[in-house]
Amino acid sequence: MKVAIGCDHAGVALKNEIVPVLSDLGIEWEDLGTKDEQSVDYPDFGEKVSDFVSKGRVDRGILICGTGIGMSIVANKFPNVRAALCSETYSAKMSRLHNDANLLVLPGRIIDGKTARDIVNVWFTTSFEGGRHQGRLDKIKAIESRLCK
Ligand code: RB5
Repeated sequence: MKVAIGCDHAGVALKNEIVPVLSDLGIEWEDLGTKDEQSVDYPDFGEKVSDFVSKGRVDRGILICGTGIGMSIVANKFPNVRAALCSETYSAKMSRLHNDANLLVLPGRIIDGKTARDIVNVWFTTSFEGGRHQGRLDKIKAIESRLCK
């Protein structure tokens, strides 16, 4: 599996906490920045990662900003992106089981490193359940197609 990861200045510290988990899981990851705590604009990095996921250049993405809200707003504008903002493991698990989320958003200023590592671990090891949930995703896709006309 290939993953693109990005953040703004408020997400750099948490990003550094979670990349070892990706490596431990045998996931190939690419860091699209930002890489230091100099202030940047989250839409610039949200766009990079979301575009990679949207176009299938990677299987999944991770985005981190202070609250996770800005990155979520950006990511869910992209076709084929199902971004889930998670602050605890239950939502992370459900976002995979029911929503087949392909982009994980984390709030860098809200959760600690251990919580983030637990979330990443569960998010990457939980499979989509399919079944009735697939029909719901098909409806989301249909909405997307109508809006993009
Ligand atoms: C940056 O100060 C902050 O606004 C950003 O990281 C994020 O929380 C936006 O939603």
